[in-house]
This record gives sequence, structure tokens and C-alpha cells, in this order.
Amino acid sequence: MQDPLKQSFLKEIDEIKSIQELINIKAKYIGKKGVVTERIKNLGRLPSDERRSQGKILNEIKDFIEETIKNKEKELKQKEISESLKKEFIDITLPGKDFYFGGSHPVNKTLLEIIDIFKELGFTVEEGPEVELDYYNFEALNIPKDHPARDMQDTFYVSEDVVLRTHTSPVQVRVMEKKEPPLRFISPGKVYRCDSDISHTPMFHQVEGLMVDEEVSFSHLKGVLVYFLRRLFGDIPIRFRPSFFPFTEPSTEIDIGCIICGGKGCRVCKGTGWLEVLGAGMVHPNVFKFAGYTEGKYRGFAFGMGVERLTMLKYRIDDIRLFFENDIRFLRQF
Ligand code: DAH
Repeated sequence: MQDPLKQSFLKEIDEIKSIQELINIKAKYIGKKGVVTERIKNLGRLPSDERRSQGKILNEIKDFIEETIKNKEKELKQKEISESLKKEFIDITLPGKDFYFGGSHPVNKTLLEIIDIFKELGFTVEEGPEVELDYYNFEALNIPKDHPARDMQDTFYVSEDVVLRTHTSPVQVRVMEKKEPPLRFISPGKVYRCDSDISHTPMFHQVEGLMVDEEVSFSHLKGVLVYFLRRLFGDIPIRFRPSFFPFTEPSTEIDIGCIICGGKGCRVCKGTGWLEVLGAGMVHPNVFKFAGYTEGKYRGFAFGMGVERLTMLKYRIDDIRLFFENDIRFLRQF
């Protein structure tokens, strides 16, 4: 017959489910005040022969309980681990989540491409302020007070003498005031005009260019700009059309064969087969005068282009406002 103590212990330990319950049982039976412990303490009151046989039995029970608790503890810990593994299961065969790297804005991409091409030709990069004096934006570029380009409808006036620059051309004069030729630089940056529709935004980007030396001629202008356009657009037809800008004489506008219709005539080229992409010309003597150069000593050519417009043509985008809405679905395509 099994000892009733052992029996009740086995029954209790069989039912437990947690480590905490196990700790409680351990205390109940073999803790400092546990039942087995108490009985061992009381052995001394028994007659000596009974004491010996009871002592043997009790020690055996104590060893048995210790051993059983140790095994139960192992079993419970194992169960805990396998349960948490089941709960935290990660299916490594599932496909990963897609993520995207950030990228350059299309306008910035074109801008960097333009800068790269001119750098190869030995042009440096100069910058000027976006909040500009009326003097540099107009006066020093040979645009007198009554010129239509100063119209309040186009120009954002900060005060009577200060404007948000309407083009990057003022950088020409700012650089020439500081440096003597030879000069060969481009000047990219933001410009502002009070205008907004599918091909105009109040802020857009231009790249200005200037090359000045004693012997610079119209053929340099032509060579540089034809090379530039072929690098940017590939082998396309190019034509020079007479035009007018107050700060150049003669002035020209440069067209490329329409890249949408191939010259047949379409909505984008308004049926002409040509797209205007650059304004340019030989620097007007008055501009050299404003820059403080000795009269007649230098010649140069200048040019200006709209970066959004070039980007729209390059990537066939038909609404300039897409560049500024920051719709990630649009931007991710570049
Ligand atoms: N500043 C002109 C504009 O905003 C563009 C331009 C035309 C710049 C001819 C030039 C140039 O330097 O020579 O429309």
C-alpha cells in the first residue's frame, strides 16, 4: 500500500498546469513548514524502532517528491516554450513587402542632365538670388521702365525696387560685375511669374547660360547649343528663328522638330511641326556697359531655357501642374 501522503501528492501534481502551482505544492509538502518536513521533525517523539522505519519511509517520500517536482518543472517549461513558438510562428515562405527607394524629381533629373552636359563643355555653375533687385532683373538687362515685360500681371513685386526674379538672366550681370572674361557658365534656378494654367506655374525653373571672351561669335552659340540639344534629345531636327530679346542682339529662338508627331503637325506643336526650346542671342552692348566692361572689348552669347518645358517634352507630359502636385504615382514613373 502506498503512503496516503504520497498518494495525495501524486493526485495534486497531476492536476497542475503552471509553474506557480508547482511552487505552491513544493512548499506545501517539502517547504520549511511542509507536511513531510513537519513529520520528519516530529520523528523524535516516536519510540526508537518506529522512528527508524518511519524515518526511512519519510526520507524516501521526500526524495520522491523532490524528483517528481523536478521532472514536472521540466515538462511545464517545455510546454511553455512550444506554446509560445506556436503563437509566434513566422511563415518565412510568405513573399516580402514591396518597398520603394526615393528618387530624383523628373525636373531635377533634367536639370542635373543639363548641368552635366554643360560641365563637359567647360561651363561652370553660378547662382543668384531669387528675390532680386529690379535693377538686375530688368534695368541692367536693357529692359527699360516702360517695357511690357515689367507688367504687374507677370511680375511679382516685393516693393517698388525689389521683385521675385522673372528669369535667371540677372545672374549674367551679377557675375560679369565681379569677373572679367573669359567667362563660361550656366546658372540654374527658380523663377517666378504671375501665371497659372496647363503650361504655366507661378514658380518654375530656368537655366541661363553665358559665354564671353574677345572672339566669341554666333557660330560658337550655334555649335554649343546644337551640341547641347542633340545630347539631350538625340538626333533631332533643329532650326534657328530670328527673335527679339532686349538683352541680346541679334536674338534667336531655337526650335526642335516636334518629338510627338515627328514634324507632321499635332496639338502639342500647334500644327507647326516645331517646338520652341531655347531663347538666345549675342549679348547686347548695353548689357556689357551695365556690367562695367570696356566698350567694344568683349563679345558673348547668352541663352535661357525652361526646365519644366524641356522635361515635359522629354517625357511627354502634357500638364505642367503634375510636377508640383507630388502625387507619388506620377513621381514613381521616373
Ligand atoms: N530670359 C529669357 C526668358 O525668360 C530667356 C532668354 C532668352 C535668356 C535669350 C537669354 C537669352 O539669355 O539670350 O524668356
